[in-house]
Amino acid sequence: MRRPLIVGNWKMHGSLQANESLVQGVVARWSGVHLAEVGVCPPAVYLSQVSQLLASTNIGCGAQDVSWAETGAYTGEISAAMLADVGCQYVIVGHSERREYHAESSELVARKFIAAQSAGLTPILCVGETLAQREADETLAVIGEQLQAAVELAGRKAMTAAVIAYEPVWAIGTGLTATPEQAQEVHEFIRDQLGEAGAAVRILYGGSVKPSNAAELFAQPDIDGALVGGASLNSEDFYRICQAAE
Ligand code: PGA
Repeated sequence: MRRPLIVGNWKMHGSLQANESLVQGVVARWSGVHLAEVGVCPPAVYLSQVSQLLASTNIGCGAQDVSWAETGAYTGEISAAMLADVGCQYVIVGHSERREYHAESSELVARKFIAAQSAGLTPILCVGETLAQREADETLAVIGEQLQAAVELAGRKAMTAAVIAYEPVWAIGTGLTATPEQAQEVHEFIRDQLGEAGAAVRILYGGSVKPSNAAELFAQPDIDGALVGGASLNSEDFYRICQAAE
């Protein structure tokens, strides 16, 4: 039995004041969520603030990115140990916005994955195809390659302690969602690719998840939760998505 997991990815949104009211809004509604595990990923500068705001709750905190390096002369980078130090449990690696705008290769993402696990964090490994790749019928090949890079470097066993997020690039922030059947097909493929480790791995769906489509996505056998962008910035919407996973 895989515990449902909902993670909010705040991306580059927020301020000290806005974060406080968003967290307050989520916590105020919290009594209806018992089963699902829930976390939020604010921008790195606010991790200390948000992990403190969440300290008396069972909502976790995560980062949106991490350095592959352990320590040293890497200006601007943040290590996995530092993230753990300020209260993170999770870190997103390989989000498509980082692959695209920061030219992150699958190999670099795999190194970040290992750095996260070495510091005791749960990596949330994002994979996903572009619209052109889907139209060219390359979806499973692309996902397979992105997954394989992490499996090769970290080993299959390491995948059992990880979370995978399938996020079709064409569905992120566009309002377009993969149909439950489209998502299920890819989730099942990912689980199969992981062999024995696949049974335990939680595979989240991401891409325009909203209160109105969450339940039908979560009803699919291989969808274990969601990575939520835009809707995680509204406490009522985020809460309703969490409730749909109950
Ligand atoms: P979205 O973003 O929910 O705004 O589409 C999801 C993500 O990028 O993680």
